[in-house]
Amino acid sequence: MIDVDRLRKDFPALSPRHGGPPPVYLDSACMSLVPQAVLEALGEYYTDYPGCAGRSLHRFAEEVGHRYESARESFARFLGSPAPDGIVFLRNATEAINLVGQGLDWKPGDRVLVTDQEHNSNLVVWQRLAAERGIQLTHLRLPSDGTFDGEALDRELDRGVRLVSFFQTSNLDGRSLPVREIVERAHRKGAEVLIDGCQAAPHQPVDLARLGVDFYALSLHKMLGPTGTGLLAGRPERLSRLSPLVVGGETVEWTTLTEHRLRPPPHRFEAGLQNYGGVLGAVAGLRYLQQVGLDEVEAHDRSVNARATKALADEPRVTLLGPPDPAHRPSIYSFTLDGVDPSDAALFLDEGYRVMVRSGMHCVHSWYRERSLPGSIRASFYLYTSTTDIDAFVTGVTELLGRIPPTESRPRPLTPVSRPEPAPKTQGRAP
Ligand code: ALA
Repeated sequence: MIDVDRLRKDFPALSPRHGGPPPVYLDSACMSLVPQAVLEALGEYYTDYPGCAGRSLHRFAEEVGHRYESARESFARFLGSPAPDGIVFLRNATEAINLVGQGLDWKPGDRVLVTDQEHNSNLVVWQRLAAERGIQLTHLRLPSDGTFDGEALDRELDRGVRLVSFFQTSNLDGRSLPVREIVERAHRKGAEVLIDGCQAAPHQPVDLARLGVDFYALSLHKMLGPTGTGLLAGRPERLSRLSPLVVGGETVEWTTLTEHRLRPPPHRFEAGLQNYGGVLGAVAGLRYLQQVGLDEVEAHDRSVNARATKALADEPRVTLLGPPDPAHRPSIYSFTLDGVDPSDAALFLDEGYRVMVRSGMHCVHSWYRERSLPGSIRASFYLYTSTTDIDAFVTGVTELLGRIPPTESRPRPLTPVSRPEPAPKTQGRAP
């Protein structure tokens, strides 16, 4: 069991402010907080060996080059990825998905299958490729109770799919998809699989060799790393078929005035000076996470989520998104409040209770628009979330409901309406 009180001392952002109580951070699905060890690793890079890897031969450069390549080994081991050369460091999962999308040699009519609940990072790139290169984008509708229909997937695959690109865990409601089953079904029908692991790998053990995915996108700033760090993991033979998004220094073996030869993966995808400090900070975050243990993190998420779910279960004006059982959406509690705009609720919780949640459409506009919903309120949990945090959140929500008179209508059912309505006007902070 995680000793949360002890562990929280490692996270400077959780210190009490101005003599008051500590902040209640329930937005780890957006980005996690970082432990002191990450700040130290960042400082160590800039203080002790501030060089650029792979170029100069002096001691700073040699040191950072060695550490940067060992970072690849650390993440490969963590993900059960077959080879360190299958790890490409990038800014975030969005860039990783774009690298696959823009890098494959599409032919007009090639079909990409996504779910109807993908983050914009796993949607816009395909829409753009449909417009620019004539691929076909199709959607698999997911049941609202959090279950998965493998036969519905097979029916789509039978229409001929080149790439299946799904989330592993949804940032909208916390449900997870059965990745191994999806990969088996897809590979049987000749489709490749890209998985967005952003909300999964920080919270549960992931073994890419067992899952058999072709490509796996990850943001490291959701798993204790500094912002702007992410990676694409892939089998090296699959990666070598991708054309780089950006080319330049470090991506080539040689150039002449008219020609060049690209290096093999992963270096051909890492053009220009890289975020060495960020990656080395992310490794410190990874080490911290591994010391706590992913099984422990998952159990902890479940337990704090169960506390929130139980506390608000009998409140008729709360409509939960996703599977009812918190064990099936451990890191996320996403909901609407009858008669309350999600952004107003988030501001109320922040101002009145120091409770930081995310509100709006969570970059999944397509899902909310199909249901004519203005968004939801999302509390997301991580290894440092305490029961005190949960209680402050529940008190805030209950207090808010006590102040707003109930509306006549109940919240709309969370099923798609036949035609999307125009984009709703945003209020307060951007969705
Ligand atoms: N995708 C991130 C979130 O859900 C940014 O908050």
